[in-house]
Amino acid sequence: MTAKSDNFTVLSSSAEDKAAFRAVILSTLDAILDSIKDDSAFSGIDPYKLRERIGALEFLPETGDGWDSTLESVKREILPHMLRTWSTSYMPHLHSPALVESIAAELIISTFNSSMDSWDQGPAATEIETKCIKELCALFGYGKESDGVFTSGGSQSNISASVALRDAYLSKRFGWDAKKKGLPEDARKLRLYTSEISHFSFEKGAHMMGLGYDAVVKLPVDDKERIDTAKALEIIQRDYDEGLYPFLVTATIGTTDFGSIDNVFELRKIADRFGMYLHADAAYGSGAILSSYKDRIGDLSLADSITVDFHKMFLLPISASALLVKDSSTLDAFQLHADYLNREEDEEDGYINLVGKSMQTTRRADALKVYISFRMRGKDGYRKIIDTAIENAAYFYGKISENPAFIAPIAPELSSVVFAVKGGDEKNKKIRRKLLSEGIVIGQTVFNGRTMLKFTLLNPALTHAHIDELIEKIQNS
Ligand SMILES: Cc1ncc(COP(=O)(O)O)c(C=O)c1O
Repeated sequence: MTAKSDNFTVLSSSAEDKAAFRAVILSTLDAILDSIKDDSAFSGIDPYKLRERIGALEFLPETGDGWDSTLESVKREILPHMLRTWSTSYMPHLHSPALVESIAAELIISTFNSSMDSWDQGPAATEIETKCIKELCALFGYGKESDGVFTSGGSQSNISASVALRDAYLSKRFGWDAKKKGLPEDARKLRLYTSEISHFSFEKGAHMMGLGYDAVVKLPVDDKERIDTAKALEIIQRDYDEGLYPFLVTATIGTTDFGSIDNVFELRKIADRFGMYLHADAAYGSGAILSSYKDRIGDLSLADSITVDFHKMFLLPISASALLVKDSSTLDAFQLHADYLNREEDEEDGYINLVGKSMQTTRRADALKVYISFRMRGKDGYRKIIDTAIENAAYFYGKISENPAFIAPIAPELSSVVFAVKGGDEKNKKIRRKLLSEGIVIGQTVFNGRTMLKFTLLNPALTHAHIDELIEKIQNS
């Protein structure tokens, strides 16, 4: 790119601006592709060294450096040390590679930079989100009264659900309008029940809701890391009898470490007994709905709301999540009108302003990624991808269960396997660090007080041969 074309700012219909746009995007594309020299996940650089190199970068020069030189610095100092999520050597977290077409979708999303707050900030984006939500509600078994909204991730979906269902509970039980009046005087009695190994977003949410962590009651899990529903019933009954207000129980459909799945059917019965709401945190396990193993996640339509993350099993780029609600009025918790943004008369004339359903105001058009990947791959394509992840986990578990060098406490239901190499905590920690320095990134967690290793197998490119190779590497580490 010439110095002259460094004068470009934004896209327009002019041939010159289009050429500048193409040049920037294509040179970026080349830089990305050129940076991929092997199949490792990470360069293995020491964190202090990387910090020093990135710390030394010129940040805001008096005179701009121009595109070529800026891209050069990115090529030299940043791209080589980016984590390559598509690598078959990357498996520590619920953090997936992005399907190729969804990266193209990101280009469309960023180029047009639509915002989901009002129809006039994203006409097609608003309609595609509305369409996606309707289809997703049907996919998860919700009826016509349902609705939903895209969010930045599972945390925001879980917290939004907690807020909205808390308000619904206070309204239904006490005729209390929390949106207007805030918390009632006896708000300290409100209780949210969740698995002891559920995601910490429920505690973060309780803090933000003014209830505090103490309002979150951790339910014990059984030997497969699922909520022990008999004990859950006892605990909630005791609290109820003591005059507390149990308002919400959450089912984790795929816990972060083990991918264990709470029994949504039993939890629904418990919720109904005490007039509580039930939320399904299916941030992880929702992907299984498109697999041959969909029965494992249970009937999520029994829940009053569902968190679905597309940036986990569905392999879409961050961010992509949705909160689905069985009763559309649940999302009224977020409805508020501003004269400059979402006038009431707009809605009457067919201009939908989605800001009234979400915690965020400015919001990305993430639904487009879902449309593009779902349309392109269809149920068949996704089934293959998600089946591969689940079957790879079963394969890995099978292999290490029969290998005396390993401990593998629980058979996977989804795509994660927690395990350890016999020999103690320090040995396992060392193995993970050693692999990291070789560009192989695996997970580490704690189970029953012991340091464990973890594979989160989301990558459909991973084969049994890769898994065998990794087992050997770990065993010889
Ligand atoms: C079970 C579960 N729920 C919620 C979340 C939060 O999702 P996000 O990271 O998209 O906020 C996670 C993240 O891993 C998770 O494992």
